[in-house]
Amino acid sequence: MKLDNGTQRPGLVRREVAVRATAAVLGLSAVFGTGLATAAHADAQATPTGIVLGVGANESQRVVSWYSSAGTAQVVQIVPTSKLVKGQFPANTVTFPATVTANKVNGGYNGHATIDSLKQNTSYSYRVGVEGQWSPTYSFKTQDFNGNNFDFLFFGDPQIGSSGNTAKDGAGWMDTLNVALAADPQSELLVSGGDQVETANTETQWDAFLAPDKLRQYPWAATIGNHDVGGKAYEQHFWTPNTDRSAPYYNGDANTRSGGDYWFKYKNVLFIDINSNAYASGADAAHINYITNVVKTQGAGVKHTVLVYHHSIYSPADHANDGDNQLRRQDFPTAFSKLGVDLVLQGHDHSYSRSYLIKNGKKANPDEQPGAAEVFQGPGGVIYVTANSASGSKYYDLTAPDTTEDPNYGPDPLNPKSHWANSVENQEHVRTYVKVQVRGNKLVVEDIRSGTCAAPNAAVELGKVSWCGPNSGATAAQPVGSTVDKVVIHTNNSKADVDASAAAEAAWLQ
Ligand SMILES: [Fe+2]
Repeated sequence: MKLDNGTQRPGLVRREVAVRATAAVLGLSAVFGTGLATAAHADAQATPTGIVLGVGANESQRVVSWYSSAGTAQVVQIVPTSKLVKGQFPANTVTFPATVTANKVNGGYNGHATIDSLKQNTSYSYRVGVEGQWSPTYSFKTQDFNGNNFDFLFFGDPQIGSSGNTAKDGAGWMDTLNVALAADPQSELLVSGGDQVETANTETQWDAFLAPDKLRQYPWAATIGNHDVGGKAYEQHFWTPNTDRSAPYYNGDANTRSGGDYWFKYKNVLFIDINSNAYASGADAAHINYITNVVKTQGAGVKHTVLVYHHSIYSPADHANDGDNQLRRQDFPTAFSKLGVDLVLQGHDHSYSRSYLIKNGKKANPDEQPGAAEVFQGPGGVIYVTANSASGSKYYDLTAPDTTEDPNYGPDPLNPKSHWANSVENQEHVRTYVKVQVRGNKLVVEDIRSGTCAAPNAAVELGKVSWCGPNSGATAAQPVGSTVDKVVIHTNNSKADVDASAAAEAAWLQ
């Protein structure tokens, strides 16, 4: 589809308040009844906004984060939905006190509370605030905690505001969430590829990003991108579990920028999320050390290890040969192979790619064919995925391999238009997201179209791109819900292999 191009151009001090001390031990911090709510009643100004459901440390936890107009005591109330009385929270509703902190930028406060001891296969209703000043009631549900099968969804660079039109970017973002979760309402996690917004501290962009109610119904596993890192709003909006905020995990000043590496377990998967903005001055080695420690201390009993960060190292488009990515391509892959990482989820390049099995930075099996529907991961085999734009705010076109830029990132002998590492590279200028089905020893990765060339598709609507559809627009756009790419990954589940790899990695790091 050819498009009519260019018709439109868009124009303190840190203060801990409330009940931090009692919120620290979350299992013990839940209180019953109305005592706390009564204590908080004096403040009717603490209007909660920007409420977002986040991941906890495991499948029995969720974290609720929000902004507040006041710094006084606030809580999350939660009850099994079946216990609501004519839509009202009963007297014995469980209450989790929040930690409320003064924002470092943009004024106001941010709060969060960790909800723990959730039961499996249960629908919950919750609200945020104080007596007399409650948020609307939201709901989420848990599923079977012991099952080895579950779905999660991965979203690349919503980057709200990137097109120059925040409303259009937000409309595409909301539509992708609605489409994805209508197609797969049983999904249990929404995983971020980073770049939630275009400009780190611009709250109108955060408002649009957080507008979809789906972000209050399914837990968001936040990832920091290069557009989020330059301010404190990212950390104010998202509280994440098991987070190491020491200096190596920031790209510069921790007082003015966001950062941190974190991990969580969800059923049989260990997720490790790192701040890839920090890469220079030994930060890559620090990330590897963090990942190594998490795998060593948390890897027992999990079937799969999924790594998430923003800057795709095998990106297929504009960022393919960025200097920082050339460095990460050297720094990361061997360590990931030795640590038994199964799947790496990345963003930044606003285009889709799925790698071949990569072992120690090289194609594991030279005979693996482009677009193979099924791959068998031996020890050290890692699949790297790059997500396209989930919002339609910006797309990058695929680029040809260029060994003058990076002699180590040349063409695929089996498909010379493509970079050697990638089995599939795709850009159609339509919104997509990645669905991952965890199925026992398999991970099924599928890139799915959540939009067409029609609105909402900000980059197309605003004339940022000149064509739309497969084959550079030569083919009609495919329908919403159709598959761009799908692969069944048979993961390497020999614990002995992984343990040996981890031990080798630990030795290698010394
Ligand atoms: Fe981005």
